[in-house]
Amino acid sequence: MATIAIYSLKGGVGKSTLAANLAWCAATRSSRRTLLWDLDPQAASSWMLGEDGGGERAHAVFSRDVPPSRLIRVTTIERLDLLPADASLRDLNHLFRTVAKKRRLARLLNDLGDHERVILDCPPGLTETADQVARAADLIVVPVVPSALSERAWGEVDRHLGGRTHTLPVHVMVDRRRALHLEALARHPDWPVVPMASVVESAATARRCVGEVAPRSLAAGAFDELWKRIEKRLV
Ligand SMILES: Nc1ncnc2c1ncn2[C@@H]1O[C@H](COP(=O)(O)OP(=O)(O)O)[C@@H](O)[C@H]1O
Ligand SMILES: [Mg+2]
Repeated sequence: MATIAIYSLKGGVGKSTLAANLAWCAATRSSRRTLLWDLDPQAASSWMLGEDGGGERAHAVFSRDVPPSRLIRVTTIERLDLLPADASLRDLNHLFRTVAKKRRLARLLNDLGDHERVILDCPPGLTETADQVARAADLIVVPVVPSALSERAWGEVDRHLGGRTHTLPVHVMVDRRRALHLEALARHPDWPVVPMASVVESAATARRCVGEVAPRSLAAGAFDELWKRIEKRLV
């Protein structure tokens, strides 16, 4: 089993979008038994994968030793399961601090057993949750919108987490008509690129993955390429 976390200091940078689409790639393109574990109380990727929300149970895995397997749902996508988030995860940092076990999340992941790939959709911020994720993940994928401020945030993440775990920065929401975006791409020619594309948003609105609704689009190709890079980094 390999765990891939989608993480950033920042909100609104495309973490949940990456998490759902990469989980789709793992299950569909690589035929892996895959779990998307949503750790963000906003539950965006849970919603995209068909979870309607309103529950208050997700915290029980951390606060009451309810086995994660009890909360896992199948999705409409073959080989892709979901451990959904809900608003009860708003206190996740507090929960991790009160159990005072630095590898709590890593343990829970070890006990899952049945999945070959686990994708973690993480809440933003350099928090206790981020530290738990860094101890648990084999690879941390960090979406970076091309801008000086986002690059600084990436540097901060790499300093804080990079020493402990492998990280893979990815340029996302890239608009090649913008000079600043092209300059950022030139500074990091080795980073994978996901374009800004309306199909990404329209797929999310329809609660589908881009590979399902527009498999020939540039964006679908970018998610496929990124997933291949991730698989290569795991071996
Ligand atoms: N490559 C992209 N092209 C266009 N819109 C995108 C892209 N990636 C994400 N978005 C949109 O940006 C918004 C924030 O994305 P989201 O994945 O929810 O970010 P986060 O999880 O980091 O808060 C959403 O409306 C999403 O549809
Ligand atoms: Mg999100």
